[in-house]
Amino acid sequence: MIDPRSSVIEKRLAGVKRIVAVTGWKGGIGKSSIASVLALLLAHKGHRAALLDLDFTGASDHIILGINDAHYTEETGLNPPLAHGITFMSMSFFSQGRAVPLRGSDVSQAALELLAVTQWGEQDFLVVDMPPGIGDASLDMVRWIKRAELLAVTTPAVLSVETLKRSLALFERLNVPLLGIIENLSTAAHSPFVSHAKFLGSIQRDPSLEAATGHPEQILRTRFAEELGKVAAVFD
Ligand SMILES: Nc1ncnc2c1ncn2[C@@H]1O[C@H](COP(=O)(O)OP(=O)(O)O)[C@@H](O)[C@H]1O
Ligand SMILES: [Mg+2]
Repeated sequence: MIDPRSSVIEKRLAGVKRIVAVTGWKGGIGKSSIASVLALLLAHKGHRAALLDLDFTGASDHIILGINDAHYTEETGLNPPLAHGITFMSMSFFSQGRAVPLRGSDVSQAALELLAVTQWGEQDFLVVDMPPGIGDASLDMVRWIKRAELLAVTTPAVLSVETLKRSLALFERLNVPLLGIIENLSTAAHSPFVSHAKFLGSIQRDPSLEAATGHPEQILRTRFAEELGKVAAVFD
């Protein structure tokens, strides 16, 4: 069956040059931090940058960036607000601070709905904070956002590395292009991905990130942002 939202989503994303899907298929490895700060860095460099938080149960980009008062407006679809130079849309707008009790396929449906109604306008980059895990939502997103390039996040931990390897193999079979791999929360030890052709770089554990949460100007001065900035040179 052809879902009419397919052509609608393509139309909605037509003005977006590149779509970067930040994933890592595990929780707590820094996906949201990297997605949010990447959008911030790109906007800071003068790119037209948008950010979409698709993590329903754990939407956190608005907390990281301190986006408290902004809200979308409705016209023909939803117009995302501009916050700190970033065109921003998040499931948090709809959950009003509560956890969303959605099951797998419902998460997918809600994400598709959001993609079908959001008016992104003209953007150089749309950074997508992907739903965690390889569930319906994650698979549907790459199926529906056809031009998505994966920016995979891992930590040096064996469990994170193993999850990443398996997931990368799966997404390769699904023909989703891999933009690169970032190692977050790095230790001094040799990174297991250093020799990977798509390895973009490492980000150390930065104790100053926690206190900067919610304060974009402060985030931009952290070592975390500095190191992510070097990795983000891949977009120049
Ligand atoms: N390089 C880092 N240094 C210090 N803290 C970090 C770093 N990366 C992420 N964190 C912290 O780890 C926690 C989980 O990060 P988050 O971005 O929410 O991960 P995910 O989206 O993968 O679940 C957050 O409190 C975040 O501030
Ligand atoms: Mg997250």
